[in-house]
Amino acid sequence: MKRVKVRLGKSGYEIRIGSGILAEVGRWLTEGGFSDKLVIITNPIVNRLYGKSLEQNLIREGFRVTILPVPDGEDQKSLETAGRLYHELSNCYAERATPVLALGGGVIGDLAGFVAATYLRGVPLVQIPTTLLAQVDSSIGGKVAVNHDQLKNKIGAFYQPMLVISDISTLRTLPPKELANGLAEVIKSAVVWDKEFFAYLEMNLDRIKSLDARELEQTVFRSAKIKAEIVAKDERDLGLRNILNYGHTIGHAIESVADFSIGHGEAVAIGMLAAARISNRLGILGQNELSRLRNLIQRASLATETPALELGKIIQAMRHDKKILGGRIRFVLPKAIGEVFITDKVSPSLVEQVLVSCHEET
Ligand SMILES: NC(=O)c1ccc[n+]([C@@H]2O[C@H](COP(=O)([O-])OP(=O)(O)OC[C@H]3O[C@@H](n4cnc5c(N)ncnc54)[C@H](O)[C@@H]3O)[C@@H](O)[C@H]2O)c1
Repeated sequence: MKRVKVRLGKSGYEIRIGSGILAEVGRWLTEGGFSDKLVIITNPIVNRLYGKSLEQNLIREGFRVTILPVPDGEDQKSLETAGRLYHELSNCYAERATPVLALGGGVIGDLAGFVAATYLRGVPLVQIPTTLLAQVDSSIGGKVAVNHDQLKNKIGAFYQPMLVISDISTLRTLPPKELANGLAEVIKSAVVWDKEFFAYLEMNLDRIKSLDARELEQTVFRSAKIKAEIVAKDERDLGLRNILNYGHTIGHAIESVADFSIGHGEAVAIGMLAAARISNRLGILGQNELSRLRNLIQRASLATETPALELGKIIQAMRHDKKILGGRIRFVLPKAIGEVFITDKVSPSLVEQVLVSCHEET
């Protein structure tokens, strides 16, 4: 098992990464001073796969367990579902010290995290991510939220978990599309922070895709370490943490114009490549690095071409993004692999050009 520390002063915590470590959750909670009652928020898919055995393990450890299932899907990240969960927490007499375990992908992590942050002004939260995306990204850093008025993550908080437990053996049941979605965030973390990790991914991507336990553990560990380092330097997303939005300015716009029929990771991959092309056209990112990025994205089974969507709508959607500052669209662009910078000096026409021209590149 590997450990990563998220160093945030008093609210610092540990990420534990390994194969089969769901079996340790009860013992770790007991060691952390918890006993008696706890609540698991999950969805029916994950509950069937992992919730039941986790429940048995916790009961054996002496806990009284309440499972609160939420239907699967992004539309459950809502105030309505949060309201229902508050009601159920109240019904099972959850108290200030009752831990909430978020067992699932990023949707469950964001929703259960939001509920834990707000119920009784905050109850202990344990993130148990079961998708690659959640293990390398969403479970770390304390951003919790629900969607509102068609806008993603509109209502939320910064609320750090007390522990993150990433059992990589849960990734074995993940549909290939979800694995690719997570790989987009893995590639993102390498591009923004760590060129050696990028080279490692180039070497090992096939083993990672075939779910080789050693390489998966290493990949989740290195990605989590990058996120933890960035979050520790800028917990509230006021500066450095913005670099984690690499690929997201165009990616979010594509997602929303496609009415979320395109996966988040897939849209981010298109956005990362478009941002790299912009940097290349501005004479900053070299052709060789651009090609390396495109190859890795392609090998990860992610799209490298802009889907057939109206470009005007994509540009329009970018103007509604949270990353707008003073009316100007901000982009995270790679200078080189492992180093990015933020600029608001990219013209919409250049964005259109790179989105159109991707079909012509070799
Ligand atoms: N808080 C953050 O910092 C942050 C960062 C990135 C993304 N997010 C959020 O994360 C969400 C996306 O998360 P996601 O990609 O994990 O999607 P998800 O939670 O919807 O999970 C994807 C699918 O995989 C299923 N699943 C989960 N674990 C499984 C397993 N082990 N085996 C089989 N199926 C499994 C889920 O039921 C779901 O159908 C979005 O809402 C996004 O806004 C948050």
